[in-house]
Amino acid sequence: MWICKILIYSLILGLVAAQICYDERPSGTRRVKFRRCCKDYKRVRGPRLRCIPQCKVNCGSGSCTKPNVCTCQKGYKNFNNDPSSRCVPFCEGCNRGTCQAPGRCVCPERHLMDEKTNNCMPQCASGCPNGTCITPNNCSCNQGYGLNASTQVCLPICKDNCRAANGFCAAPNRCECNSGFIAKPNSKSFECQPVCKNGCSNGVCRAPDKCECNKFYRKNIDGNCVPICEDGCVNGNCTAPDVCQCLPGYTKIGQNVCLAVCPAVCKNGDCVAPNECLCNAGYTKREGVCTPDCKDECENGFCEAPEKCSCNEGYKMDSENRIPDGNEQQLFPNLLKRM
Ligand SMILES: *[C@@H]1O[C@H](CO)[C@@H](O)[C@H](O)[C@H]1NC(C)=O
Ligand SMILES: *[C@@H]1O[C@H](CO)[C@@H](O)[C@H](O)[C@H]1NC(C)=O
Ligand SMILES: *[C@@H]1O[C@H](CO)[C@@H](O)[C@H](O)[C@H]1NC(C)=O
Ligand SMILES: *[C@@H]1O[C@H](CO)[C@@H](O)[C@H](O)[C@H]1NC(C)=O
Repeated sequence: MWICKILIYSLILGLVAAQICYDERPSGTRRVKFRRCCKDYKRVRGPRLRCIPQCKVNCGSGSCTKPNVCTCQKGYKNFNNDPSSRCVPFCEGCNRGTCQAPGRCVCPERHLMDEKTNNCMPQCASGCPNGTCITPNNCSCNQGYGLNASTQVCLPICKDNCRAANGFCAAPNRCECNSGFIAKPNSKSFECQPVCKNGCSNGVCRAPDKCECNKFYRKNIDGNCVPICEDGCVNGNCTAPDVCQCLPGYTKIGQNVCLAVCPAVCKNGDCVAPNECLCNAGYTKREGVCTPDCKDECENGFCEAPEKCSCNEGYKMDSENRIPDGNEQQLFPNLLKRM
């Protein structure tokens, strides 16, 4: 501490000494020495010779401590960091701003103070995604991005025309498919094709979930393309255009009609479904066979057809469609035989 003070005082003394210069001038036959202020020093008015340094400029918030050296007060700095210039208030950062007083930076219009650097940052309403706000509402885009001047948004630039291929430019030189589309497999250039989520067999997927059926196919209620059998396909499955495949239990009769098959002959009936023989009117199924119905019992005879009795041998029909009484043997031949 002491040593420090001594040093400072000796410096000041040296300085003071340097302010005064000696000169000679002729006086009669002699030359006399005299003292005056050195160059760049100015004499302070007074009885004693006192010299102070001179500065080109007004030091402002500082004082002229050496010729053309302004020493600034605390909180001030030389303008342009040049000691020969005036002292101005100092603010940390304050780029693009005005330091009005020590530590008091005022930003211009449409600029905001950045809390980290204390610099004034231009404001862009868009926020300049993928770019930098260089002046208020004027973005400069990062490499690979182009500016939309009206929105001041930087958009990625793609060499390919993504849009023409049902896509969009997602990042610099990277196209991506629009939603509902996927990249076309094995395609050399970027190309997207629509996706039909439920598939589109026997058709062409023209747009997302828009399946267009091939010729000779039509949409069924499930939205699938199924073949068309021009003349129908009764009791069959139209498996290909004009190909009618009979359902199980049916057999083909003609190009487009299938009929049910009843394994046992369906005499006196209709085979309405596989193995389902429906008896004609006047017939009833007995032991799986359609047999004719006769209202009255055909005594000593048999029901040959609906309501038509035929007499057993040796009998003949009576007037009331009954078989007349004969002798016992004739009347009950079977009964007697069994006895
Ligand atoms: C900016 O670029 C990055 C990287 O390319 C990307 O992830 C981001 O989505 C882009 N932002 C906008 C708004 O485009
Ligand atoms: C935005 O900045 C660029 C680059 O500095 C400049 O050429 C352009 O004139 C500016 N535009 C506006 C509207 O300030
Ligand atoms: C800029 O953005 C606007 C609004 O989104 C849009 O209408 C316009 O087409 C864009 N301009 C260009 C060149 O992309
Ligand atoms: C008709 O044929 C198709 C294809 O061969 C098959 O998927 C479907 O199950 C069949 N329908 C019937 C009722 O047999």
